[in-house]
Amino acid sequence: MRKKVTVVGGGFVGSTTAQRIHDAGLADVVLTDIIEGVPAGKALDMAESAPILGTDAHAVGISTASGDYRETANSDIIVITAGFPRKPGMSRDDLLRANYDVIKGVVDAVVKLSPGAILIMVTNPLDAMAQAAFKLSGFSKNRVIGMAGVLDSARMSAFVAMELGVSVDNVHSFVLGGHGDDMVPLVRYSTVAGIPLPELIAKDKLAAIVTRTRKGGAEIVNLLKTGSAYYAPSAAAVEMVAAILKDKKKILPCAAYLEGEYGISGLFVGVPVKLGARGIEQIIEVKLQPEEKAALDKSAASVRELVNILGL
Ligand code: LAC
Repeated sequence: MRKKVTVVGGGFVGSTTAQRIHDAGLADVVLTDIIEGVPAGKALDMAESAPILGTDAHAVGISTASGDYRETANSDIIVITAGFPRKPGMSRDDLLRANYDVIKGVVDAVVKLSPGAILIMVTNPLDAMAQAAFKLSGFSKNRVIGMAGVLDSARMSAFVAMELGVSVDNVHSFVLGGHGDDMVPLVRYSTVAGIPLPELIAKDKLAAIVTRTRKGGAEIVNLLKTGSAYYAPSAAAVEMVAAILKDKKKILPCAAYLEGEYGISGLFVGVPVKLGARGIEQIIEVKLQPEEKAALDKSAASVRELVNILGL
């Protein structure tokens, strides 16, 4: 039997995530949204592409306006992208609370129907929403994972490949911390064909890449004007889905619930983890230099601030 993945939220990130999973034949996909018609229409459109693409994966779309999530039952993975984007006049806290309310409704509904699932959180503010999903679901910490580090590292790798004119295949970037302006791109641990970045790129250019990585989301928002990124975010979520479905034991940077690792406790923060069939199978700890540790602590403090507002 094919695996089943539910994607909650039929906006650009959610529908592109569903499409990538379907097109790659990774799993049957259920796309949900509170809007009527749209998720069904998008899923039917995907299903009609299947004969051309040669995928046997099924795609189904449902509206959950009535609170009926039955179609999602027994999902292996649930990717949650639902939530509001930040609108003019909305504070960070307003968005936090609005999206907490969305996440609460979703998590309560889906975990009852898929008690063995792995949750991948994509909704912003990412790390706080992952923490909310962890607390609301009652799932073990290995089964609640936040998507962000894969996206942030991919952005950094893209910028490095552009700078050096080398294949993206050669670049491995390493970004720690929360998915915010104070995320921690670790240049020492980022490599091109195994060579650490500081050996290959001048200091000022490297600093510019770090800054561009930190502001990668905003750069896209400024260009799109009416929304935020979705190609790279969906690709990042799908890399995590594939690592889990294929039990790859792949080391990827993800938001994970820390209990003492990196000196941080009771908080979701982006760290390298081993992803396999059981979700987060290991948190990989690496030695940090004092300034790197200070940067990670600063990033964690920003996440802690949001989590405290929600009382999580
Ligand atoms: C980004 C936002 C969506 O990084 O979190 O693109």
